[in-house]
Amino acid sequence: MAARDGCPDDGAAMRAADLPQLVEAWAGGWACTRKLSLERIDRVLRITVNGASRRLEYVLADPDEDEFAGLAKVVAQQSDVWLTVFSSDPNRFRLLAPELDVAVDGEAFMVRSIKDVQSDDEVLMEDWVRIADDGRTAHARLQRGGEIAAIGSVALAGTSSRGGVVGPSAVFDRIETMPSFRRQGLGSRIMEALTQWAVGRGAHTGLLAASPGGQRLYTKLGWETVSRMVSFRSPPGTANAGPDDAAAKTTRTVQE
Ligand SMILES: CC(C)(COP(=O)(O)OP(=O)(O)OC[C@H]1O[C@@H](n2cnc3c(N)ncnc32)[C@H](O)[C@@H]1OP(=O)(O)O)[C@@H](O)C(=O)NCCC(=O)NCCS
Repeated sequence: MAARDGCPDDGAAMRAADLPQLVEAWAGGWACTRKLSLERIDRVLRITVNGASRRLEYVLADPDEDEFAGLAKVVAQQSDVWLTVFSSDPNRFRLLAPELDVAVDGEAFMVRSIKDVQSDDEVLMEDWVRIADDGRTAHARLQRGGEIAAIGSVALAGTSSRGGVVGPSAVFDRIETMPSFRRQGLGSRIMEALTQWAVGRGAHTGLLAASPGGQRLYTKLGWETVSRMVSFRSPPGTANAGPDDAAAKTTRTVQE
């Protein structure tokens, strides 16, 4: 994402963008890929998840300490609720939420300008990448020897209601290569196919929440970290009666 002809480069523009704009665009697309409902209440986004790990997830971007502590108190009074904070240093909020546990740590919020990616439909036909889409979301599947080797999803997320430089965006989600097929370039192929699909439908900006493993893949593919993320959780209650899958309770990225 180098600058050309003295113009500011897109990466710099996105990094300078208000983090809440980027997070709102991400949350809209993330909720869309998973068919969840999302509401904005002032600066807080509330997603109704109704999953094994949580009923609700509140999302806050770059909060001040009072704002975070106030919402943490509300979350602590409910069961099965997550509070996810996006910040350059989200761990500083731990002391402000003594009643909450950490549900997920180590994720990064990443962006990439994709508007100059050339759209090439042939990419979608190679290597057994199959895309099923409904016009707004696409799910890719890559098979090797009759087995599903890698999967991923993307949603067109539109522009944040706060405006700004984000532009039409695409949110990538649930990128996964099955363990025996890793480090063979398949995660990259899934990302390429989904990017082609999104670019062909007008997306300019890619957004995603990356697990530590995913961060290595996306960094290699030219994505940049714009903030860190930590998800806090309230005590479990009766709504937490889904599958007792420890992994499902410790990551947002592939389960739920
Ligand atoms: C992250 C994941 C999708 C990567 O899939 P993959 O098919 O192995 O990725 P690729 O083979 O295309 O990797 C491309 C490059 O990314 C980097 N990379 C990917 N996985 C890496 C790892 N575990 N360690 C270090 N670098 C890694 C490397 O630079 C790699 O190139 P190289 O193999 O030539 O060194 C896979 O490890 C996975 O499914 N993990 C569990 C689920 C998950 O965390 N998904 C991400 C959700 S955000």
